[in-house]
Amino acid sequence: MTLNSSDVPGPVLVMGAGAVGCYIGGCLAAAGVPVTFVGRPRVLQALAGHGLTLTDLDGARRVVPAAQLSLSEAVPAGMRPALVLLCVKGGATGDAARQLAAALPAGMVVLSLQNGVGNADTAGQAAPALRALPGMVPYNVAELSPGAWHRGTDGELAAPQDAALAPWVPVFAKAGVPLALVPDIKAVQWGKLLINLNNPVNALSRLPLQGEFMHAGWRRCFAGLMEEGLEVLEAAGIQPAQFGALPQRRLMALLRLPDEQFATVGAPLLRIDPQARSSMADDLALGRRTEVDMLCGEVVRLARRHGVQAPRNARMVELLDGGWPAPPPVLTADEVLGALGL
Ligand SMILES: NC(=O)c1ccc[n+]([C@@H]2O[C@H](COP(=O)([O-])OP(=O)(O)OC[C@H]3O[C@@H](n4cnc5c(N)ncnc54)[C@H](OP(=O)(O)O)[C@@H]3O)[C@@H](O)[C@H]2O)c1
Repeated sequence: MTLNSSDVPGPVLVMGAGAVGCYIGGCLAAAGVPVTFVGRPRVLQALAGHGLTLTDLDGARRVVPAAQLSLSEAVPAGMRPALVLLCVKGGATGDAARQLAAALPAGMVVLSLQNGVGNADTAGQAAPALRALPGMVPYNVAELSPGAWHRGTDGELAAPQDAALAPWVPVFAKAGVPLALVPDIKAVQWGKLLINLNNPVNALSRLPLQGEFMHAGWRRCFAGLMEEGLEVLEAAGIQPAQFGALPQRRLMALLRLPDEQFATVGAPLLRIDPQARSSMADDLALGRRTEVDMLCGEVVRLARRHGVQAPRNARMVELLDGGWPAPPPVLTADEVLGALGL
């Protein structure tokens, strides 16, 4: 569906053209929103050569020809976007925020479309002139080929009920990337974070998500991290929002079933593209630093602030990050269970 220019509050700047930035920014661009993509040469060259092709699990296909794309390696000086979408990985948040603040007017609204619970605060601390707001992306996006991005799961983007975002709700809806403004974004982010505690397990398993979920040992690692996360949230007085079809405690019980039972009762969890992996698995495979500290590390920091311990999540940070830049050791599920004390 193409929007009238009078329906759009103004141009959008995507900071960090990668999976999330290209998919969400691309859907907005395909609907007629003027979008500028700031990214690395490798990605921009692919976009300049192939344009953007955006597909999803419902069979939708949107194309933005290369000639219609606005691409830049740096935040264009003098640009006045109405909204910035911050789409870099957590470790790049501070630098990206400083680059935005150096080029854009004070008070610019920057919506963090990143995992974890701390990126908007990190951006705000690195660049106090920005108005950084937390967001949540529920779905998985993967690059199928240069310029082609695929949304593999469902859900609605979430952000706080902020007046600056309200005019964007119908725009995002018409672009096919619905945005819900929620009363308690922290609860939503923590709900997503509990699910993302599987990302380091998936990365260590070196298996696609489906293969990992078919193995009781890896499922018990995920359930153990989530159980500890829930205990820490309870100590902190935070009630996480449910993410996905099952309440967290039912999901944990399902994950802990033996393989034979899980194969039947857990079938909904196995309905995933057989090749899909967490983006943390991709980071590990490419030798990039992972976001484990923005996930398990947040559980550990919240625990400390509330006088409790989170040894399993602390151990997971060590396993992934302890030897950086050396890759983590190749471990079996039993070895990881042992390391987590499970
Ligand atoms: N992928 C998913 O399915 C998914 C789903 C939900 C949430 N998320 C979250 O969304 C966030 C983004 O993830 P992603 O998978 O989209 O990451 P990504 O594919 O790595 O994309 C980020 C891109 O931004 C680039 N970048 C970093 N700093 C930059 C800067 N200052 N200027 C220009 N470009 C810069 C990165 O380049 P370098 O690699 O060179 O730094 C990378 O190409 C993460 O927090 C992730 O956890 C991802």
